[in-house]
Amino acid sequence: MYQVNTNYLKLPGSYLFSTIAKKVAAFQQANPDKQIIRLGIGDVTQPLPKVVIDALHKAVDEQASAETFRGYAPDLGYDFLRNAIAEHDYRSRGCDISPDEIFVSDGAKSDSGNIQELFSKDNRIAVTDPVYPVYVDSNVMGGRCGNYDPHTGMWDQVVYLPCTAENDFVPDFPDQDPDIIYLCLPNNPTGTTLKKDQLQKWVDYANNKNAIIIFDAAYEHYISTPDVPHSIYECDGARDCCIEIRSFSKTAGFTGLRLGFTVVPKSLKCGDASLHDMWARRHGTKFNGAPYIVQRAGEAIYSEEGQKEVADLVSYYMENARMIREGLTAAGFTCYGGVDAPYIWMKTPDGMTSWDFFDYLLEKANVVGTPGSGFGPSGEGYFRLTAFGTHENTKAALERIKRL
Ligand code: MLT
Repeated sequence: MYQVNTNYLKLPGSYLFSTIAKKVAAFQQANPDKQIIRLGIGDVTQPLPKVVIDALHKAVDEQASAETFRGYAPDLGYDFLRNAIAEHDYRSRGCDISPDEIFVSDGAKSDSGNIQELFSKDNRIAVTDPVYPVYVDSNVMGGRCGNYDPHTGMWDQVVYLPCTAENDFVPDFPDQDPDIIYLCLPNNPTGTTLKKDQLQKWVDYANNKNAIIIFDAAYEHYISTPDVPHSIYECDGARDCCIEIRSFSKTAGFTGLRLGFTVVPKSLKCGDASLHDMWARRHGTKFNGAPYIVQRAGEAIYSEEGQKEVADLVSYYMENARMIREGLTAAGFTCYGGVDAPYIWMKTPDGMTSWDFFDYLLEKANVVGTPGSGFGPSGEGYFRLTAFGTHENTKAALERIKRL
């Protein structure tokens, strides 16, 4: 008789954003006349840059003729894209990353969920708390997190690194040594980030403890503060202990197109085992490459015009972030983030729980956000709003919240 992976059965309920979607759908069904404004999941609302649309059209036309038609993509990514990424995202910033250390994929969510396959189930993971739920959930599936305590909202074999207003959202080194450390910077959900010297300490820590850092840099394009690193490879020694994951979703609006990449340096070794070779083996076995037309679309953002259009897109969303941060602060709320990231992390008013505030906002203002406790126990008492809405909806949502 077949057996299932019982680790799946340990996962509580459904994935955070599916739970929210279900609640919102039920509310809408019961109140069909209400105009709901969604500032919950961080999904983009603006059209793709023109350079991307042009590149897509051109690549589609190429598929119409036998001379230019492409079938399976190279499983690690087309050279034209890997070269552009290495040049623009790394070498131009002084990071020593070569094109063959870049693995193109269908997005950062898949990579951040799949990367745990490279590690033995005996490894102990550390996550900042609150945290993007994919890191913990995928490690639970891999049998690495122990048991869940519904009272504390914690897994007993996970090391939690609280990031709250009390420590300025800067994680402390834990008492218990972790093997795998997940860092997402700029952070989802808090919208806060670390300065270069603070990140360097984590790289040094990982090298000292023989740990590895999985660095999620999906929001790096939103950084405006000068000494905040865009890549972990700006830190000394990072090539020996870090994997970096990036996305085109938030940078260029690819949430529907799907494109991302992971950097695994060749110098990253566990004894004799090369993580680069292992990840290449995994890609070769389980992945047939991101679509040609999407990789051409990704390449287009690295042109001069592409960089300008992407910067405009980021400015558009960061204007929303500014409006939310300043509007809510003026209305008496305490807000964090929203300067180097498209998320605003607010304290819930009057000591309300995160889910109570979610229900209150949905019912009274018909605005959807994300309850902080959905990201981990230290998120309790906080609430996340995304800046990825339209200007009009963001303004309207703010007015409704202020009226409360
Ligand atoms: C979020 O809202 O946290 C993100 O959109 C989720 C994701 O990128 O998968």
